[in-house]
Amino acid sequence: MPKLYYHDFSRLGFHNRQLPGIFTGIFAPNQEAKMPVICAYIMLAIAKLRCEGEREISFAELFCADAFYSIFARKWGADTAVGIDNDRDGYLRLASVARKRAGVPDVQLVRGDVMELPTNIKYSIVANVGGLYHVEDPVRVLRHSWELSSGFLIVQSAVSMANDDPAYFETPAPGWDWGSRFNRRSFQRMVEREGYNVIDSAFNELTGNERLEDRGSVYYLIRKAP
Ligand SMILES: C[S@@+](CC[C@H](N)C(=O)[O-])C[C@H]1O[C@@H](n2cnc3c(N)ncnc32)[C@H](O)[C@@H]1O
Repeated sequence: MPKLYYHDFSRLGFHNRQLPGIFTGIFAPNQEAKMPVICAYIMLAIAKLRCEGEREISFAELFCADAFYSIFARKWGADTAVGIDNDRDGYLRLASVARKRAGVPDVQLVRGDVMELPTNIKYSIVANVGGLYHVEDPVRVLRHSWELSSGFLIVQSAVSMANDDPAYFETPAPGWDWGSRFNRRSFQRMVEREGYNVIDSAFNELTGNERLEDRGSVYYLIRKAP
């Protein structure tokens, strides 16, 4: 079980030790790449829903690890937040500590597979971040995430920068015996095929990841309603 956090929580109100070292590790630079885009999407989704008069904004983070984005959403305007993770990597215990240290102990944590979440319970905002490349059938998981949302779906995934083939998809992921991989173009093509209403999208590099196969990062803010 890891003793060090996946994320640096200093912007969420407390100081912690991040894997595997704040200045040299892969976690810190990758967080710096992902966090501004994902947090901006969460804030925009909350703002839009409030402007439309939504009173109870619920937030769900799939693949939450130490629940950084659930804690962020709860602190910055969501009325409820839940993080779900199968705890394969053992971060949920740290999530439990983090929610208290960040001053939002009511962030709910669920240990389980994201596909086990029942789709009759909807969340105003669903964040599927840092998870699709962990699963063998990302399209199935993406469709499930869409079903869970009543307002916005936020998606982030690592993608390969080693090729530009618009039909590229590989499972297991290159060099791994699990997961899967798209590249930027094939991920975009997949999103277009699903017919989602994309409000914004972005791309940047996970500079902590050396291999081109792991280095790209795609982001989508998808509107489900009204
Ligand atoms: C890369 S971390 C993502 C952390 C955070 N959401 C982020 O983007 O910074 C991926 C997490 O997904 C979890 N995970 C992998 N497969 C899962 C599944 N099928 N259902 C639930 N959690 C899963 C792992 O335990 C791990 O904590």
